[in-house]
Formats: sequence, C-alpha cells, structure tokens
Amino acid sequence: MAKIAPSVLGADFARLGEEITSADKAGVDTLHLDIMDGHFVPNISYGPAIVKTIDKLSDSFLDVHLMLSEPEKYFEAFVKSGADAITFHLEVHPNPSAYARQIKALGVQAGISINPDMPVERVLPFLKDFDYLLIMSVYPGFGGQKFIRESLTSVKTASEYIESHGLKTVVMIDGGVDASNAQEVVAAGAEILVMGSAFFGTDDRAALVKQVAAYS
Ligand code: DX5
Ligand code: ZN
Repeated sequence: MAKIAPSVLGADFARLGEEITSADKAGVDTLHLDIMDGHFVPNISYGPAIVKTIDKLSDSFLDVHLMLSEPEKYFEAFVKSGADAITFHLEVHPNPSAYARQIKALGVQAGISINPDMPVERVLPFLKDFDYLLIMSVYPGFGGQKFIRESLTSVKTASEYIESHGLKTVVMIDGGVDASNAQEVVAAGAEILVMGSAFFGTDDRAALVKQVAAYS
C-alpha cells in the first residue's frame, strides 16, 4: 500500500497550523520537510525552529529532507527539533555510510537522496545502510515543478535491487508527483510519494490519500 507524505513547502504558511491539522485529518502519518541552504540548491526555505513548530502541531512522523552542502553540521539540530528521519544527498557525500551511522546514533532513521541526473547505480551499494532512498523527480529547490519521467527508471532499478538483495530500504519519490502520475510511480516501485503542490492544492485531501492508498 502506497502513501503520501505531504511536503509542507507546498502549504500556505500564513495558515500553517490549519494546513498541518488538515493533513493529519486527511489520513497521512508522515510529513516531508524540505530544508534548503541557498547553496546546494538555489533557494532557502526554513530551519530547525519551524521543524520544532511543526512537531508541536502534528503527531505525524517528520521526514526531514536536507538539501544542504554540509548536512552533517545540522543532523543534531534537526533531531532535537523533532525529526524522525533525516535524509541527505549522495551528491554532497559520495561515501555516505558514515553519515548514516551518525544519524542512526542520534536515534532516528536515515535516508539518502539522488537528483534526477545521478546514475542510480551509484547509490545501490549504500542502500543496505539506509532506511529510505529518496529519488528526486525534479531538480530540488522549488515546489511546483514538472515531473521528470526519467526518474521512473531509477525508481524501478532501485526497487528491483532492494527486492533482489532482501533489503528493507523504502523508496520515496519527490517532485512533481500528483494524482495523474501517482499510479505509475507506485507501479515503478515507490512506496512513499512526496507531494507538495498537488496535496496542498486540492480541497479533497482525504480523497487523494485514499486514491494513493489503493495503489500497490
Ligand atoms: C523540491 C522539494 C520537494 C517539493 C515537492 O526541492 O524537495 O519536496 O517540495 O513539491 P511538489 O510536489 O510541488 O513538486
Ligand atoms: Zn523534498
């Protein structure tokens, strides 16, 4: 059963409390929080203080996606702020296993992410050390971008590898995912669909959650 992790970047920050409550009421159990440093990606979002605020507003699992050039400097700050999983990019740490250990030593789960132009084969040897693989289907930095279809091939290759090696890594996809492509994304092997604009842009959020839950 696939599920949606709403990306809070797509929420109306003037009504953050209501948006978070509405996501919880729609039946999600995970929120995706995008942290951008204006260096690894050409945008700046928010930091640990907002993560802490969201943690107070929600019982959901907080999946923190670090789009930072030096993510390891902030692992602890985000865990203290309520992160339940921390994901960073293979692009900044081509040998990421030591960082997975650091994250797990802080008592949370670890994820590794790849951009659309990163050959998926590069991340496969490290998957045994990670709880999540976050495959980007847009170039990170902004919500509301168009889905890059080539990422489906990476999702498929990674999920086949995970299956054939008996790993437990969960494949997530992030960027441009919506009601129109959710089914094929799940068919390719993604179990968690990060959705920003598509989730917060729809009035019937519960229906979208149900739609995705029907896919496997
Ligand atoms: C992109 C972020 C995504 C983004 C998704 O840099 O990592 O999580 O918020 O937003 P949508 O679903 O609008 O593409
Ligand atoms: Zn993200």
